[in-house]
Formats: sequence, structure tokens, C-alpha cells
Amino acid sequence: MTDLAQRAQAALCDAYARPPLTLVGGEGAWVVTDQGARLLDCVGGIAVNVLGHGHPGLTAAIADQARRLIHTSNLYRTEPQVELAERLVATAFPSRVFFSNSGAEANEAAIKVARKWGQRHRGGAHVVVTLTAAFHGRTLATLAATAAPRYGDPFRPLPAGFRQVPRGDLGALATALDQEAVAVLLEPIQGESGVFPVPDETLREIRRLCTERDCLLVLDEVQSGMGRTGRMWAHQWAGIVPDVMTVAKGLGGGVPIGATLVGPRADVLQPGDHGSTFGGGPLACRAGLAVLEAIEAEGLLANARATGQRLREGLLALAAAGHPITEVRGRGLMLGVGLRRAIAPAVAEAAVREGLLVNPVGRRTLRLLPPLTLSLQEADLAVERLGAALAACGPGHRPAPAADG
Ligand SMILES: Cc1ncc(COP(=O)(O)O)c(C=O)c1O
Repeated sequence: MTDLAQRAQAALCDAYARPPLTLVGGEGAWVVTDQGARLLDCVGGIAVNVLGHGHPGLTAAIADQARRLIHTSNLYRTEPQVELAERLVATAFPSRVFFSNSGAEANEAAIKVARKWGQRHRGGAHVVVTLTAAFHGRTLATLAATAAPRYGDPFRPLPAGFRQVPRGDLGALATALDQEAVAVLLEPIQGESGVFPVPDETLREIRRLCTERDCLLVLDEVQSGMGRTGRMWAHQWAGIVPDVMTVAKGLGGGVPIGATLVGPRADVLQPGDHGSTFGGGPLACRAGLAVLEAIEAEGLLANARATGQRLREGLLALAAAGHPITEVRGRGLMLGVGLRRAIAPAVAEAAVREGLLVNPVGRRTLRLLPPLTLSLQEADLAVERLGAALAACGPGHRPAPAADG
């Protein structure tokens, strides 16, 4: 064990099972290890590093804002916060914004909005309906909204008022939307459970049901948003408008920030209802502005579509060449590679040796969430290196034990 690995074990809680890898730097779609190895980063901080590493516009904005004003309380107004809210809304749907620091917090705010709306407009209806295999965060309420028991079981009892229905079962959803139900909360593409898109037609039907039953549609775009699918928000492919949308991950390009966009129908927050010391601080908001500017100026939505298509074609070519790939799921640069055998952790490990970072989700899926700045050549290189990693885990390979999820 290296010195840093020993120190990490002594100093850090065992919350993460990490590969033996120490990262010290990054540039574009590449990260650098303490051994000087350069790895093509197709994890992208799990959909956070939308501009890659060391983006000049983002780093300059952060440095400039750090010199002016890093933090002030939400007791006071700042221009970056107002401007980011305006720009964010301009990419989405008519709404106003509550800023926080993470995806889970953005969802907590959405749940509070839904509950307050239910008290005001639906005689105390409060149940939030979510889908099986959903992931909405690690706070207690978002764990209650998250489907897989392994995340929430050690921490029971979880808050009441959540109900899960099978993904894709619209009949069950319709039944769940009873007098007590106030909202449907879902990811347009489920990320943590292995990249499972909700079909556009299903999203439209869920929108219709929510309207019919007078419930709020809350979309968790924490992972699927910020241009990842080749449109700014994944739900825009389906042509629907939610009542509430949550955003985080890519918004700050690596600086923590979360946002809850609340449409006019659901806009119930009043002073004192909710708050956050750090939420929407000037530094994070300047970072968010720089990210939005770069997505537009550099044509990153089109790039996500083009490189996503190139990656998908390359991955399907690997499957056609006999590699144990069963399917490629997702959209743009949010891709899940289904594997025929339970080798995802071993393939991810082998990929590091080939100079590539990919993320195993469970044992049969590899997830790719590279920066939106990925070039076509880098997409080809990622496929080539993944092919080599799959070959290294060929039929004779025995997968090493690893934790799910
Ligand atoms: C869809 C979705 N929602 C919420 C979260 C939680 O975000 P955070 O880890 O920033 O709290 C995640 C994190 O992976 C996510 O993928």
C-alpha cells in the first residue's frame, strides 16, 4: 500500500470503495495520476466535468470571482446569482430558481415545494411517487425517494410519504396517483441504476397523467441535464415541460452547486420556508455562468450528439466483433454499456491499465459520462481502449469481487 493509501485509510471514513489510483491533475478530457500516467476520463466526475479539466473560461471566471467576492450570505443579493438564475431559466421553461449545493439538496427543495403545494392546493396531499431503480440522493428524504433498498436500509426509518411504482408501468402509476399523491419525481434517464432512459412517449404520458390528476411533475435532471444528452435538458427530447426541475452536477463544472427550478404553478416558497448558507454563492454562480457560456459558445450540445453517436457506433462495433456487449443504452454522452457477463468492475480495472476511466455500475453495466468537450478522436480512442480492456477480461477471466452500485 502506498503512503497516501495508508494515510487515506487512517484519516477517511470507509464510505467509498476506491481503486488504487491517485489523481493529481487534468487537462481537457484527460486526468493525470501521481505516477504520471494520463488517463482518458470517460467518467467526468460522474457527469460533473462537462467542460473537462482546466477549462480556461471556467478557471478564469472562478479566479476572477475569488478576487472579488467568494461568499456572502443569502441575506444579500448578488449579481452572479440573479444572472445565473436568469440564464438557467432561459434554457429551460418559465420558472424561478432556488439554489443549493448538490443534487440531493436540489431534490430536497423540490420535495418541500411539492409538500407545501399539496398543503395549499390539494388539501394536504403529500405522497411523492417515484420509479423503481430511481436514484435521487443520499439525504434521508431523497433516500426514501430512491428505490434500491441497499442505499436506504441501514438508515431506517426513512421519512414517510414516498411510494414507488415499476418503471414503465403506466397503469401502476395511474393507480398510485390517488388523493394522497402530490407529485411524480423521476429521472428522464435513470443514471445510477445503469443508464435506463424513460421513453419519450412514456414521459409524455406521465406529463398527461400528472396534469389530469392535478399532481406536480418533478424531473430530476441532476445527471441527465446540462447538455449531457445533446439537448440542454433530457426531457426536451420528449417536448414536455415539468412543473419543477432539479439540477446539480455539471452546473458548476466541478464547483458544487444545485438548483431547483420551480414553474409558476408550483411557486409556493416564501421567506423562511427554506434556505442554505452556501447555496447560490457568488463563486459557484460565476462558475455556473461560465459553464453555460461555454456550452453555447463551443457548440457543446452538437458535440455531445456527434461524439455520443461516434461512441455508440464504436461500442456496437465492439459488440459485433464478439466482445461481450449486449446493448448500448442512453443518449448523447450519457451511455450505459450492458455486458453479457458480470465483469464490469474487472473491465473498469483493466481499462485503467489501458489508460481509460470508465465507471462500473453494478456488475453488468459500464457507464460513460465523458466531458461534453470530448473530440471524435478521443471517442475513437476510448472505444479502442475499452476493446482492449474487454479483451483482457476474456472468457477465461474470473471477475474480482466488488461492491454493487
Ligand atoms: C439523478 C440524480 N439525482 C440526485 C443525485 C444526488 O446528487 P448529489 O450527489 O450531488 O447529492 C444524483 C447523484 O448521482 C443523481 O444521479
